[in-house]
Amino acid sequence: MASHIIVLGLLVITCSIALASAESPLQDFCVAVPNSPVLVNGFVCKDPNLVQATDFLFAGLNIAGNTSNALGSAVTPVFVTQLPGLNTLGVSLARIDFAPLGVNPPHTHPRGSEIFTVLQGSVEVGFVTSNPGNKLITTVLQSGDAFVFPQGLVHFQKNVGNGNAIALASLSSENPGVIIVANAVFGSNPAISTDVLSTAFQVNQSVIAEIESKF
Ligand SMILES: *[C@@H]1O[C@H](CO)[C@@H](O)[C@H](O)[C@H]1NC(C)=O
Ligand SMILES: *[C@@H]1O[C@H](CO)[C@@H](O)[C@H](O)[C@H]1NC(C)=O
Repeated sequence: MASHIIVLGLLVITCSIALASAESPLQDFCVAVPNSPVLVNGFVCKDPNLVQATDFLFAGLNIAGNTSNALGSAVTPVFVTQLPGLNTLGVSLARIDFAPLGVNPPHTHPRGSEIFTVLQGSVEVGFVTSNPGNKLITTVLQSGDAFVFPQGLVHFQKNVGNGNAIALASLSSENPGVIIVANAVFGSNPAISTDVLSTAFQVNQSVIAEIESKF
């Protein structure tokens, strides 16, 4: 009886691990071939005999992103698209620059959790739990602080210090994906019908049209 319970317990643990993340790599590496006509879940592998150090190298993370935009922030991603050597490895990163008061707007990564480390400045961060709670978990980070955004949850950052802020985000997928809430809802192509958005946001269609005009 007890052994059945243990076996069941192990089964549950094993299953939840299997469902929670991508399959482990089955070889040392699989450098992405981005333009292959063969489509798989991820990218097909470059011939290992032709692989070079440059396939594993991304240069330029010391360079600040251009924050002269409406949001006052810039993201420099180092995902599998920018760094082919990340393919199948389940990790990636990004540099985020913030002008004073700059915001990285509410967004989610459908395929990865994130550890966000502040390298310079003070950054307000937050994420919102899923239904039905929708609880906001928020704090202000200083240089050297790291904060976790759990996979799939809507989160944001805002520079609340006096100067520019810099952060480095690490993600648990080589292709975490980014869904910026405002762009997805108000800037889709083609647009979601204003009837739908008007009912969803409980405002009239002119308000929806005004918001849509910004995206
Ligand atoms: C930053 O972006 C702005 C707006 O697109 C542009 O006018 C400006 O030239 C850019 N600055 C640099 C240094 O690239
Ligand atoms: C739509 O709602 C806004 C904000 O409540 C209001 O100012 C405006 O008059 C409304 N427009 C129409 C056409 O009802």
